Amino acid sequence: MPAAVSVVSRGRSKMRNTQRKPSILNFDAGCGSSLSFIVIGLVGFTLIACLFFISHQVKTGHAHSYSSHLPATRELEQVEEEHFRLPPPHKVNPRAVKRTVKRRGSTKASKIIDEYLDGSSALHDMFFPSETTAVNPTKGRNDSMYFYPGRVWLDTDGNAIQAHGGGILYDQNTATYYWYGENKDGPTYQIHPEGAQRIDIIGVSCYSSKDLWSWTHEGIVLPGERTNITHDLHISKVLERPKVIYNDRTRQYVMWMHIDDGNYTKASVGVAVSRSPTGPFSYLYSFRPHGFDSRDMTIFKDDDGMAYLFYATRGNTELHVSPLTADYLNVTSAIRRILVRRFREAPAVFKLRGTYYMITSRCSGWAPNPALAHATHKIMGPWETLGNPCVGGNHFLRLTTFLSQSTFVLPLPGLPGTFIFMADRWNPSDLCDSRYVWLPLSIGGLADEALDYSFGFPSWSRVSIYWHRKWRLPEGWRKSYA
Ligand code: GAL
Repeated sequence: MPAAVSVVSRGRSKMRNTQRKPSILNFDAGCGSSLSFIVIGLVGFTLIACLFFISHQVKTGHAHSYSSHLPATRELEQVEEEHFRLPPPHKVNPRAVKRTVKRRGSTKASKIIDEYLDGSSALHDMFFPSETTAVNPTKGRNDSMYFYPGRVWLDTDGNAIQAHGGGILYDQNTATYYWYGENKDGPTYQIHPEGAQRIDIIGVSCYSSKDLWSWTHEGIVLPGERTNITHDLHISKVLERPKVIYNDRTRQYVMWMHIDDGNYTKASVGVAVSRSPTGPFSYLYSFRPHGFDSRDMTIFKDDDGMAYLFYATRGNTELHVSPLTADYLNVTSAIRRILVRRFREAPAVFKLRGTYYMITSRCSGWAPNPALAHATHKIMGPWETLGNPCVGGNHFLRLTTFLSQSTFVLPLPGLPGTFIFMADRWNPSDLCDSRYVWLPLSIGGLADEALDYSFGFPSWSRVSIYWHRKWRLPEGWRKSYA
């Protein structure tokens, strides 16, 4: 990079010398003194602007230089490395190799992704460890309360948790966490050979927990529809990424989800409500927000009770954000386009000390890709992009978001600045066996690089998702809910 810069600047000075183009640097003495005024004026203005910026940050409490290294979270922020040992070429799946060469050339990363996507690959167990290693709360708490990203995770009945593309609600009324997600406990198939792998709608599952580690199945709180083929929830359709928030005024639990047909052309949002966090939820309707197509989506409830819908739209080229009506059953007419032409999806929104953050993925179907973190002081935007938040593991894991795709970010009330990043490790050859990747996410310290237009002052704290093969929540994570 520096070499390229110096070549360009050499080229420019040569052009000035040979063509003798007028330049402000060639002004005569009289102009020189006005130039000094301009320069002094500009320097003065910049200094005043910087002082104003700093005092504003202190006043509004948006100073970003706080430390994230609380003793309790130090362990979560350890950088752990991971090494893959690829099998010798004759053991690698020939089908996967053929596909790699055809589609993407044969870089090491794309070879591994093809192995990952291929259910018959010799490496399959590396990405989807066998059930013998399952995280099992029914076996007592000895090796306990550890999260193992990518392993099978059993509920308190000993069944694999089915809550994909999900999100978590902390319910003040019952002091309980509820995890809602897609129940994909069925056979994977394709409608046509080039179509995406799919599973018929089974419904939205709900699990409850006090500790975020042992989860009790509360049942399917919004089931698929078996008979009426025109119904949005008919088993032949698509129900993805359900999220639930509580409306304090109407005392209703409101679920929003992505509703689609088997070919992903309906591209709508669906809304359902319940009086209880464990359902049953009554399905109300689906619609295209503001008339726009809507695919991956999420909802976010702010501290002031306002809630917002974020949806990937215009053929997944951009996201839209819109406030919900006071009852959370619709969008208001306000709408902003964000991350335009960035092709981002799978949004997960969270907030710390007046700043909103979001993790997104690129659009690559079930295949993993690099996550990006974004931030803003105003939820309606503009949003700025911070970069890839993944830390540790290895280069390949960081380029694939640890082989997963974002779905939700959960704050830990006792550890401000520390969150759980929730993601799905999709298994396209057997979607029912998709796994969960939960990792500590922290916001703290200064970003790696200053943004171009921030006068050299880094504007945002760094968002980091730390890779761990095994980790658990530190003491005190639920302090303020106690
Ligand atoms: C992804 C999306 C998933 C699912 C999948 C289907 O892009 O994030 O939720 O829709 O495509 O291929």
